[in-house]
Amino acid sequence: MSLFSHLVTPPVRTLGGYIPGKSLKQAEQESGVQCIKLASNENPFGPSQRAVAAMRRVLEETNYYPDNDVTELRSRLAEKHGIAPENILVTAGSTSLLGIMARTMLAPGLNAVTSKLSFIVYPIATKAAGATLIEVPTLHHGFDLDAVAAAIDANTRLVFIANPNNPTGTLLDAKTVDRFLAQVPAHVVVVLDEAYCDFAQYFAAVRGVDYSHSLEHVRQGKNVVVLRTFSKAHGLAGLRIGYGIGPKELIGYFARMRTTFSVSSVAEAAALAALEDENHVQVALANNAQQSQWLLKSFQAMGYEPVPTWANFVYCDLSENASVVAKRLQSEGVIVRPLGPWGGPNAIRVTIGTPEQNQMFLAAFKKVMEHNTAAITR
Ligand SMILES: Cc1ncc(COP(=O)(O)O)c(C=O)c1O
Repeated sequence: MSLFSHLVTPPVRTLGGYIPGKSLKQAEQESGVQCIKLASNENPFGPSQRAVAAMRRVLEETNYYPDNDVTELRSRLAEKHGIAPENILVTAGSTSLLGIMARTMLAPGLNAVTSKLSFIVYPIATKAAGATLIEVPTLHHGFDLDAVAAAIDANTRLVFIANPNNPTGTLLDAKTVDRFLAQVPAHVVVVLDEAYCDFAQYFAAVRGVDYSHSLEHVRQGKNVVVLRTFSKAHGLAGLRIGYGIGPKELIGYFARMRTTFSVSSVAEAAALAALEDENHVQVALANNAQQSQWLLKSFQAMGYEPVPTWANFVYCDLSENASVVAKRLQSEGVIVRPLGPWGGPNAIRVTIGTPEQNQMFLAAFKKVMEHNTAAITR
């Protein structure tokens, strides 16, 4: 046994860490070419310039600790969502809140339920708390809520639902989620993870679909926590700021468990300014809707069957080792996410970028896949 393995807790001993999308710097150093990053579902247009200006304004005050309660942003979010500030907890990204929820509600002997092929942080947060994660099989590449409901038992405390789902981009419409929530027993809290809600809402309006009643469920006092983030449509992934909306008492327990001062004053200022820059978000959403169709058609034209997306990425099964393909793409200057660690060894997830980035991806993808076919037939 190594020096410290017997000193750490049993869950930590067996925990596999999160494998993030490669940073541009890291990928460029590895492959020696200039790269574009389409691996982590970030906003390809960068942060809002209003957010950048707001960050500059607070830089001179960063000798002070931030407001631990993130009061100004909470009250602005409360106003935006028509809910009380006490229903909201702002954290250093919604990933951080997933960890907080798991540590608050789970322990050895208890479990959480989710779907296979969903957000990779759910297993990490659950196992780190010493609990078990029950993953039900997917239905049409997404959540099968009947199977999730059937998997809930007396020891279940959390259900994680990513809507849209990451990495497959599938959607559960409002009616389907409402029907599911009506079946969930009182000892279970349902996490409706809506990290990609802005993209989904945009698609839903175009496609005539009722996307989500999540906030209404919180207003009605149900055991529901809605997760939102500034990392995606708002383009602030590097700052680490997100939030949860849920029952006041539960939010109070989560607040006890957060790391003190974990949301910086710079992040709060940027988020407040980003909320005012509706145009910046709209540009990203319109580009995403248009480019997603282009990307899907491009995959189809090559004979693949990508999953139609409700978010800012496309999932595609390649029927071959995706990590090999991703490595080759990286040497052509394009970083995508191979999904082996997520349970999809033959699938990649490509973030929808600017038109130029998407064209670069397609050119690299064609080159890599042609090379693969040539290698097989040789
Ligand atoms: C489904 C889902 N939830 C939460 C997050 C985490 O977002 P944040 O950057 O706020 O931690 C992501 C990020 O990829 C995600 O895909």
